[in-house]
Order: sequence, then structure tokens, then C-alpha cells
Amino acid sequence: MSRYAFLVLPSHNRVYADAAPSLARAELAVLSAALPDGGISQESVTETVIGGVPYVTFEADDLSERDVAVLANLSALYALFEVTSDLLRPVPLRRLDRFDDDLLTILKYAGKTNEQFTKLLLNVTLASSAFASEASTRRLAVLDPLCGRGTTLSQALMYGFDAFGADVDARDVAAYAVFIQRWLKDKRLKHQADFSPVRRDRKVVARRLTAEFAATRDEYKAGDVQRLEVVEADTARVGEFFRPASADLVVADLPYGIQHGSHAGGRALTRSPLELLRAAAPAWAKVLRPGGALGISWNTLVARREDAAGALAAAGLEVLDSGPYRAFRHRVDQAITRDILIARKPATDSGSRAS
Ligand SMILES: C[S@@+](CC[C@H](N)C(=O)[O-])C[C@H]1O[C@@H](n2cnc3c(N)ncnc32)[C@H](O)[C@@H]1O
Repeated sequence: MSRYAFLVLPSHNRVYADAAPSLARAELAVLSAALPDGGISQESVTETVIGGVPYVTFEADDLSERDVAVLANLSALYALFEVTSDLLRPVPLRRLDRFDDDLLTILKYAGKTNEQFTKLLLNVTLASSAFASEASTRRLAVLDPLCGRGTTLSQALMYGFDAFGADVDARDVAAYAVFIQRWLKDKRLKHQADFSPVRRDRKVVARRLTAEFAATRDEYKAGDVQRLEVVEADTARVGEFFRPASADLVVADLPYGIQHGSHAGGRALTRSPLELLRAAAPAWAKVLRPGGALGISWNTLVARREDAAGALAAAGLEVLDSGPYRAFRHRVDQAITRDILIARKPATDSGSRAS
């Protein structure tokens, strides 16, 4: 057993205040269950002050490079050290990140889901799917069916994945389309992008942003591209735009169900978040690949956890509701206490890779 210490990103404490340590521990617990080689002793995870600075410390069998590659993506992790006697030996980190972090930080708007929280939700969803070990070897596809101005989509692109999105708010989709096209140009990334109406029977049924790009010219030339596709449409219609079983992960931050204030959830709200979830979960589950996982966050002050879990189960998903999965609830402000729920789509014979 070796002892490790990770330095928490300073912004993590600002974003979550008192909840920061428990969220960092819950994320570590879920990710550690998906480590390819090592095992973290859950009882050993604790907060320790070293040299006057707080760290999260834990014990693990010697972490392999593959294990460190998973832990490097923890949303709260700034730096990782192995503790040897009273010295900290830096563990070199190879994060999945492929682009500058301004992909996630440039856009600022009322109703944006915090970037760090978005990363946490994507990480926990990925770790709970059957595809966790494929994140660095296969281009996964992530659907955010309530994508707003694209925080989840950009995080998925940052990881090298394909990103699909839907949002009913035309301004949100248009703003993301403008942003991403500008960003691709500014970064001089080889790309193709288009934002145009989708017509059926000569009628415009939606507007759709499509983009293909690569981190390097050689990858682009070889057709090794990342795909982005966003439709302006009601989320219950995602099945009209995205093929069944085409997304490895579905990740969504539900409207917060408050009509006033600065949260986008109130703007385009036509139904309560729970009604929205009940209406849309079957369509989301259909687009999800067997073995894939779905992660949602929502405001528990407007919908109870059991009811949200019931909506996911009714859509044929297996809700993960024990241990660390119950430790993500945290206060955002006086109108919002946020929680997350993760559910898996059972692997069927036809969908399993072994068959
Ligand atoms: C909490 S916000 C998500 C914000 C997003 N994660 C971001 O950072 O930009 C919820 C989103 O759900 C969208 N929404 C609400 N009802 C919808 C519906 N029926 N179909 C599609 N989108 C909907 C809202 O327009 C809003 O953008």
C-alpha cells in the first residue's frame, strides 16, 4: 500500500464551499471503482493538512499508469503526490484534455452549469458505464439532451469525444453555434461547420449545428475527426435526430424549476423538471447504447430523489443508488439544493461486445 495526497483545485472550494470535501470524496469513490488495475482503500480517504495546506489523502495499491490516467481527470484534482515519509513526490499526470481550457471558460452566461460540476457529472457517469476503460482508446459519444449553451458538449469535446446536444431554446443553440465556430477558427483547427434549418416535407422542423474537426491536420486529413451535432428541438424528440443506441453516455442538468432569478432553467420551462424527466427519459434511454450510463443533476427542492429515480427506472434504466452515489447532494443557493442520479442501460445480448 502507498499513500497519496491530492491538492484540490482552489476553485473547487469556491464553487462548493462546505460541500467541497464530501463531493471530492464521492467522485473519488466512484472513479476508484472503475480503476483498471488498482484499488483505493475507501476507509483511508480523508482530508489532511500538510504544510498548512489541505489535501485529500488516500491509500492504494501501487497505482499503475492506467489508474493514474483515470484519477488525473478528477474534477477537483490540481496535483497528485505520492507521500514518501514526510515528502511529497509528484505523480506525473496525463489528462484526457486535448484543448486549451478556454473551450470551457470563455462562454459566460446566466444559467450556465458550473464547468467543474459538469466535469464531475460526466466523470461519474463515464465511470459508471461499461465503457470507462475505453475513454482513451475509443471515441465515445456523449448526448446532452438539455444542452443549453453547451457546457457538457464542450467538456466531452475536451476529452476527445463526439458530442450531441438538444435544447428547445433557440437563443442557446444559436449562441453555442456562434461560439464554437469562432473558437475553431481562433484555434486554427481544421474543421467544417454548418448551422442550418432541418426540413421535413418542406417544413422547417428544427435548426441544426453540425461540425467536424480534429486536434491536428494529420488527424483531419485521415478522417480521424470529432463530431459535434446540436439540434434546436424539444428534448422528448431526440429520437428523431439521433439514432437508437448511438450515445455511450447521456448527461443532463435539468431545469432548476425556478421562474425568476438568473438560472436558465426558468427561461424555457414549459413543464416541471419532474414532468420533463418523465416525458423525456424514454427517448433518452433509447438513444443510449446498452452498457451506457445516464447522469442527471437537478434541484431537489422541486423534485424528490425517489421520484426522479422512479422516472429513470420506468424508462428501463438501472438506477445506482447506494454508497457514494448517495453522497453528491449539495447546496447551490437558497433556491437550489442540487443532487445527481446515475443509471445504467442494461447490456443486452445484441448490444454486448462479447457476443
Ligand atoms: C439547467 S439548464 C442546462 C444548462 C447547460 N448545462 C449549460 O451549461 O448551458 C436546462 C436547459 O434545459 C432546457 N430545456 C428546458 N425544457 C426543455 C425541453 N422541453 N426540451 C429541450 N430543452 C429544454 C433549457 O432551455 C435550458 O437550457
